[in-house]
Amino acid sequence: MITKTMQNAINKQINAELWSAYLYLAMSMEAEAKAFKGVANWFFVQWLEEQDHARIFQNYMNSIGAKVILHPIDKVETEWDSPLEMFKETLKHEKDVTEMINGLVHLAMSEGDYATLSRLQWFVDEQVEEEENARDLIDDFSRAGKDFAAILELDARLGKREHSKPEPLK
Ligand code: FEO
Repeated sequence: MITKTMQNAINKQINAELWSAYLYLAMSMEAEAKAFKGVANWFFVQWLEEQDHARIFQNYMNSIGAKVILHPIDKVETEWDSPLEMFKETLKHEKDVTEMINGLVHLAMSEGDYATLSRLQWFVDEQVEEEENARDLIDDFSRAGKDFAAILELDARLGKREHSKPEPLK
């Protein structure tokens, strides 16, 4: 049985996932405006992924008969100097999200809410991947520095990223 406290916390997390989606959409649009089409594609896929994360929590709430409440989405930044700055902010943000997921895990454990704990395990693993991806891209863009050919090559690589449904939505 899920408590009201846990329901509120999950609704807050749904909002955070949708805010993340909006942040990455803003980065995608900014990359597009700066003619980094591959980076724009990478962040567009990220915007879709964050909506998937919200959907996973929504499906879980619906499946246990809890009510999803959609809160307003706060404004996001819309300007970054370079792809490197975007990926640095991505890593910082994903570390914050990891803390939020850990907070949910602590709450579920303290409440003996094993169903929610089980659902959260996917997110714990996903956050490891999210941080690793951002860290790798910071390394790649740092190494490229001001070498325009290297940046173009990286941009082309990021243009190949495709969205695929996460396991809990299959
Ligand atoms: Fe939903 Fe990027 O964590």
